Order: sequence, then structure tokens, then C-alpha cells
Amino acid sequence: MKSVRFAIIGCGAISKAHIQVIQSLDGAEVGAAVDINEARARQVGEELGCPWYTSIEDMLADKDNAIDVVNICTASGLHMEPAISAAAAGKHVLIEKPLEVTLERCDAIIDACKKHGVLLGGVFQSRFLPANILVKKAVDNGYFGKLLLGNAEVKWFRAKEYYSTAGWRGTWRFDGGGALMNQGIHQVDLLQWMMGPVVSVKAITQRLVHETIEVEDLAVALLQFANGGVGVIEASTCIAPGYPKKLEIHGSLGGAIVQDDVITASTGIPEGPELDEAKASHGHVANFADPMAISFLGHERQISDFIHVIHHGGTLAITGEEARKSVQIVTAVYEAAKSGTTVTL
Ligand SMILES: NC(=O)c1ccc[n+]([C@@H]2O[C@H](COP(=O)([O-])OP(=O)(O)OC[C@H]3O[C@@H](n4cnc5c(N)ncnc54)[C@H](O)[C@@H]3O)[C@@H](O)[C@H]2O)c1
Repeated sequence: MKSVRFAIIGCGAISKAHIQVIQSLDGAEVGAAVDINEARARQVGEELGCPWYTSIEDMLADKDNAIDVVNICTASGLHMEPAISAAAAGKHVLIEKPLEVTLERCDAIIDACKKHGVLLGGVFQSRFLPANILVKKAVDNGYFGKLLLGNAEVKWFRAKEYYSTAGWRGTWRFDGGGALMNQGIHQVDLLQWMMGPVVSVKAITQRLVHETIEVEDLAVALLQFANGGVGVIEASTCIAPGYPKKLEIHGSLGGAIVQDDVITASTGIPEGPELDEAKASHGHVANFADPMAISFLGHERQISDFIHVIHHGGTLAITGEEARKSVQIVTAVYEAAKSGTTVTL
């Protein structure tokens, strides 16, 4: 089968996960590196022996690189422009979380990919880890009964340098928010995946420690789910030293507690190898204090899913529409916090 050729747009921190995973997979290769920072693009290009460019337009104009998929790893509020250019050039698009920073910008990407008939995927690597897959399956199989309460807890810490070393972080325009839009959104995505659609939101957001940023470093929200259940989200980049993230799903018959993508307690999930695997660590380490202390397993499985759909058809595990859902919840939280009202989705 033809090898799938990926172009990396934005050769910063998270691009390392994409590059390492693509290079490790059979039938996949990095065929181009793009960064507006010439030194970064050149370094990746030279390391991998692939062409490098300082603009996506130059990369797309060069037919020799035969790119199939464009992986967008730029600042969150800079996902839309390269995504639309890539779609218009007939390339499939895989975008890092969050899909974009406003619903309008998410929709522009979704529309462009539809119009040009290309695949659009949004990265949420935690959905590919055994613990989260098993809890979702338990919910869908009814093992927990009626869903009552879902908690997403991301009491993390980011040092001053996290914000000062990349000017986009901590800004409304390019980060789209703070602890919730950037760090908490993985757990928001899992929470809505398991508990179902959110109908309304109340919230408080504050900037308590990181004085130089525009956005919140602490967010607390109360959610009403369509199924009658209730949710609580807590997301921070100011709680030192940072603690493991948690997801709790509680129903009338059972539930589960997932800490750092590992099931630490459960009721209602049958004993067996699946539960054993979900209770085992998959190398998820200390990203509560260090953003890059993550396992690349979820990225590996998500990029493998993308390659599978290219070759065999079907639907991506996380489409653009799926990735949009958490942006809708997060932006509603911000609106609720700002207005002091209950916001209906
Ligand atoms: N999935 C995860 O766990 C995870 C982890 C970290 C970051 N992210 C996401 O990845 C994205 C990037 O984050 P990061 O921490 O790697 O950022 P970063 O600042 O380290 O890297 C971004 C890079 O994009 C480049 N860039 C900016 N505009 C560009 C353009 N128009 N064309 C080409 N390159 C351009 C910058 O020069 C920079 O090198 C964000 O959306 C972030 O939310 C996801």
C-alpha cells in the first residue's frame, strides 16, 4: 500500500509527537516540514531529510513533495488559515486540539474540508487510551445505569516560562482562553463523550497567579447534561505543584474514577483483561507540571486511525464535528463566567 505522506505545519513543542509517531509507523512518512520560524523548519527538514518551507503556500505549491495529509501544529488560533489552504489544495487535514478558538473559526474549517472532499480530524489523543475507551464502553453498554454526575479535574501548574517562551500562550486571540481552553479541554472532551451533550453551563473563571496572561488560570464550571445528569469541571494552571488529572463518571448502578488515563476505581465494569489493561499505566507521566511529559501512545493510535481511513474508507474516530463539541462547551463556560448567567448551548 502506498505510504501516506504527512506535512507538519508548525515545528514547535507538539510537532515532536507527530514526527516521532509518523516516523515510527509502517506506511507513513514525514514528507515536509513548515514553520514561519526558518531555523525550526530547517532543523526538522535536515534531521528528517525532507523538504522544509517557511510557508504553507510554498509547501502546497511544490507538487514534488506529494503530500497527502497536513498536520496542523500551530498556535490554536492559527489553525484555521493553514487548514483552509490545505483543504483547498485537496489535502486531508489533522488538527491539534482545540480545533480552533471560536466556533466560527471551527465551522470555517469544517465547511472547507467538506467542500473540498477531504478528511478532517481533530486530535484528542486521550480518547484512544484503554481506560477511557473502557469507561465509554461501560457507559454505552449501560453498566453504570442512569448517568448522574461527571467530574473533570485538571489541577495543573504551568511555570511563568511556559507562557513567556511562546507569545501566543495565554492570549485570547491565539490561545482562545487559558487553563480550560488549552489544558482542560482534553478532559472536557472526554466528559462530553461519556456523559453526552451539554445543555447549559454556569461558571466562574479567574486569573489568580499568572499576572502576565490575558486569560484565566483557574476555571470552575457546572454543567447540565441533556440526559439529566450534572457535571463539574475544574481546570487550573496555577495550582502548584500540579496534581494528576481526574475524570469521574458516576451512575445509578456504577461508575469509574480515571486518574491520568488509568482506571483507579470502578463499579459495574466486568473483571477481565480489558479492565486489567485499563488499570495499567500506559506511560502517562507528569504533564500536570510539564506540558511535554506525555506518552505518545494516543497520538500513535489516532494517526494510525487516520491512515486506516485513508486506505479503507469509513469515518475518523474524531472528526471535525466531534472536535468542535468541546470548543462549544469551553466558549459557553467563558460566556457564562463573563455574564454571570446560565448559558444555554
Ligand atoms: N495534544 C496535546 O496534548 C497537545 C500538547 C501541546 C500542544 N498542543 C496544541 O498544539 C498546538 C501548538 O502548540 P505548541 O505548544 O506546540 O506551540 P509552539 O509555540 O511550541 O509551536 C508552534 C509553532 O508554530 C509555528 N507557526 C506559527 N504560525 C505558523 C504558520 N502560519 N505556519 C507555520 N508555522 C507556524 C511557530 O513558529 C511555532 O514553531 C496548539 O494548538 C496546542 O494547543 C496539543
